Amino acid sequence: MNRFIRATALFPLLAATQTLQAADADTGKSLLESNCTSCHGDAVYTRENRRVTTLDGLNAQVMRCDQSLGLKWFDDDIDAVTSYLNKTYYHFK
Ligand code: HEC
Repeated sequence: MNRFIRATALFPLLAATQTLQAADADTGKSLLESNCTSCHGDAVYTRENRRVTTLDGLNAQVMRCDQSLGLKWFDDDIDAVTSYLNKTYYHFK
């Protein structure tokens, strides 16, 4: 389990502060880099037959991967990673 999750479990007030900042793309990038690279790298987001085809679909896929990993991200974390992925790879409107 990463340091961010452990810190937020121990300090609910700190968690609230971090949640406010979580919409930021840098947060999405660092969450992705520290949690999401063990099974697939960037290639899965840019491959020709990628599965995700809408912004909602991207959000849902981030939730699925979060759930299957048991990360228990806040909604804002999901959103931050979704917007980072969209901004960097998917470019949905
Ligand atoms: C336990 C292994 C594993 C980890 C860790 C993992 N994923 Fe995935 N991910 C998968 C698999 C398997 C697929 C589906 C690949 C396929 O359909 O061929 C996938 C696909 C995806 C896709 C869709 C790619 C497409 O085709 O458009 C996204 C987006 C994604 N993962 C995001 C994440 C995020 C965000 C995290 C971190 C929370 C994460 N993944 C961590 C296994 C993992």
